[in-house]
Amino acid sequence: MSRVMLIAGNWKMNGLRAQLDFFAELAGQLDDNSAEVLICPPTSLLAAAAMACENSPINVGGQDCHANISGAHTGDVSAQMLADSGASYVIVGHSERRADHNETSVDVRAKAKAALEAGISPIICVGETLDQRKAGNATTFVGEQLLQSIPESELLNNPARVVIAYEPVWAIGTGMTASRADIAEMHAHIRGLLPPGASTRILYGGSVKPDNAAGILALDDVDGALIGGASLAVSSIKKILDAANTQPK
Ligand code: PGA
Repeated sequence: MSRVMLIAGNWKMNGLRAQLDFFAELAGQLDDNSAEVLICPPTSLLAAAAMACENSPINVGGQDCHANISGAHTGDVSAQMLADSGASYVIVGHSERRADHNETSVDVRAKAKAALEAGISPIICVGETLDQRKAGNATTFVGEQLLQSIPESELLNNPARVVIAYEPVWAIGTGMTASRADIAEMHAHIRGLLPPGASTRILYGGSVKPDNAAGILALDDVDGALIGGASLAVSSIKKILDAANTQPK
């Protein structure tokens, strides 16, 4: 089954209004692009980024959402608010949020469900630590984490709207990537946990760069990438998009 590649940038806590030119500059280089392009800027830039992308193929998304639609949750943002700001996706369960905010997979599942209810697609992140990989527990751990994080009935009803990102914790922001064999093994394992034939996309994330993107994106069950550092410059994300566009999937 062919799935449109998704190249998603996660700006994390980076980006000021002075960087909004990024969107017009990138949009101006997408003539021959066939992959879906998504940038998740910080919430402070979301509405302005959505406006900057209004007549371009670039989608924008949030980096987290609360599980509730509204209420007394100071500092939080709901999926409905993200949608209202122009987001079509939201990252949930990123390992930095699991670590910094003690988010559990039960929390992540509730956030993913809230996103789907608000009409936006959750990108559900899973990944093992280096200790878990060294102990030989990576696939078991990630499989369990995924099954706890995914809203099952929504997945069954609408598999195309759910996106999974496999991001080994030890590969994020470190310059280390999982080997192609390890990525292929994990993505096949994840696909095996999904309903047969599901059009759910599985992204790889963790130090994806212009020089390693083609090799990673060529793997059978890799449907795109979630990119941190290399998504901050137009030149590097463009090279990753070029790598995605040459894949014969
Ligand atoms: P990185 O981040 O590409 O900088 O490793 C990936 C991510 O955290 O999504």
